[in-house]
Amino acid sequence: MKPQKDWSEYYEITKAKPPSKLLAKALEHPKLQAFTTAFEDFDFPNNTYDIASAMFALPFTEPAHFDEVFEKIKGSLKKGGIFCGQFFGVNDEWSKNPKMTFHTEDQARKLLDGLEIISFKEVEEDSTTANGAPKHWHIFHIIAKK
Ligand SMILES: C[S@@+](CC[C@H](N)C(=O)[O-])C[C@H]1O[C@@H](n2cnc3c(N)ncnc32)[C@H](O)[C@@H]1O
Repeated sequence: MKPQKDWSEYYEITKAKPPSKLLAKALEHPKLQAFTTAFEDFDFPNNTYDIASAMFALPFTEPAHFDEVFEKIKGSLKKGGIFCGQFFGVNDEWSKNPKMTFHTEDQARKLLDGLEIISFKEVEEDSTTANGAPKHWHIFHIIAKK
């Protein structure tokens, strides 16, 4: 079995290290704006983005806000814009957490109404979290076009 990683070790190793040159350069890009906000508080502009990438982040939205947030994300894409990201399935080990949102395949596909599905991959497996803890994952990996 893989040894569990300890995040304090990661922070110790990266302490006082500047961000990579590439990241720093990207953040200075005139076309890039950075906001620190929850999805549910962000004022998504309409028909604006070429891509909405939400990697392993949307399921952390509370169920009461999920549908509205995702509709706003769809609305924020330009025609031809791409959404990529994940929904978590109902068999996921974290599905008892009432502050997170989980979907059946039908529910996940319904959320994508109005988008052209380019890729829809369901993965259910015993694996590990980013810090090495064992976890049962149930994930829908999605790429879809407006
Ligand atoms: C598992 S991490 C994924 C981080 C990164 N996207 C990646 O793939 O490594 C989940 C991310 O979701 C963010 N998050 C959690 N709840 C959120 C919310 N309500 N609105 C926006 N982001 C949220 C967390 O801050 C965290 O960065």
